[in-house]
Amino acid sequence: RRGSPLAVGYGDGEMYLGSDAIALAPFTDRVAYLEEGDWVEIRRAGAVVHDETDAVVTRPITVVSASAFQVDRGNYRHFMSKEIHEQPEVIGHTLAHYLDLSAGTVRLPAEPSFDWKSLSRLSIVACGTAYYAGLVAKYWFERWARLPVEIDVASEFRYREPPLPENGLAVFVSQSGETADTLASLRYCKAQGQHCAAVVNVTTSTIAREADVIFPTLAGPEIGVASTKAFTCQLSVLASLAVAAGRARGVLTEADEARMVAALGDLPGLVLRTLRLEPQIEKLARDVAKVNDVLYLGRGANYPIALEGALKLKEISYIHAEGYAAGELKHGPIALIDETLPVVVIAPHDALYEKTVSNMQEVAARGGRIVLVTDARGAAENSVATLQTIVMPDMDALVAPIVYALPIQMLAYHTAVFMGTDVDQPRNLAKSVTVE
Ligand code: M6R
Repeated sequence: RRGSPLAVGYGDGEMYLGSDAIALAPFTDRVAYLEEGDWVEIRRAGAVVHDETDAVVTRPITVVSASAFQVDRGNYRHFMSKEIHEQPEVIGHTLAHYLDLSAGTVRLPAEPSFDWKSLSRLSIVACGTAYYAGLVAKYWFERWARLPVEIDVASEFRYREPPLPENGLAVFVSQSGETADTLASLRYCKAQGQHCAAVVNVTTSTIAREADVIFPTLAGPEIGVASTKAFTCQLSVLASLAVAAGRARGVLTEADEARMVAALGDLPGLVLRTLRLEPQIEKLARDVAKVNDVLYLGRGANYPIALEGALKLKEISYIHAEGYAAGELKHGPIALIDETLPVVVIAPHDALYEKTVSNMQEVAARGGRIVLVTDARGAAENSVATLQTIVMPDMDALVAPIVYALPIQMLAYHTAVFMGTDVDQPRNLAKSVTVE
């Protein structure tokens, strides 16, 4: 094994090699994970593992739980659709590991190897959708815990080799736990003496094994290349961590914590209600499937949701899409706006709503076709003409980035279905990017 993950599957009189337990699931549930530099001799009856010095070593055989094998599509046409619809359940399941709802407190599943109070800085490193989850978390940690946060995509971070402060925490966010650039960044941070925590979905992954502490997302196996349920579970975990940090650092009171925990506890129900908007979004997708470009705008913690919306759409429908902070509109992208361009505006009625409406007015004045994603109050107070307004349930502003991820996932999914692309295995993409 060099770089990419490699696992040995133990069958009856037969042995297997694969990248992970899911790849080996049709054949066996008994799996040993090789360490970096290991090599293995395989015979029908078994395997002998050597480390990079050629010494014979033992790598424990894990019996992978049956739930890790639930990898069929059920009644859904695509894994992506199934995974979108699993979100109420997996978010609830994830939060049950982080919150004590009856006590109104955060209760982390793992004792952190650091003290939130004395941390000097938080560095968040990830790629793609996981990076956008980290970008939302930056807003949360800064606001709720007054902890300075730096965030970067792993491919930049690792070669930038940034100076890292004493007593800093680095958090690596990854569904697969095998993303090469994220792993390299983790190794860099470890070498720099940072406390290293991983928010991962695959707890047997290399990133999980090399981190000092893991905070698992309990999304279950995610098969569709486009990340959906892993993203909202990452956000759920990061929100819980940010509340824990805020409490420990004395920024949040007991009452704040109770209110925030209750808001997080509402997530499964809110996500379920949002899924009921699917027929409206499917209809909208018919129009989106006819265009060449789409612009997504958002502000504050919902700005990364605009970025995620654009990524989701382009990776599975191959329609060009860009996400922007709404306030950046007049610094360039406004030049793109004409009557052919749909502009998806993520704007719950929060403290930044008025600002976003003024950006919408600029879009409307140039003939852009606005798709407004807001709540009842946002819809009622908006006087700008829209192509469509998607009215979300009312919710606490802190959970909005999690719930507002749903409409943009459904829009991307249905647009891709209308386009006839390979939704679960889009061209040129791999589920785990284990090489640079
Ligand atoms: O397994 P990871 O979370 O580390 O993967 C990171 C990205 O490769 C991944 O999120 C990618 O951007 C997805 N295809 C997005 O849907």
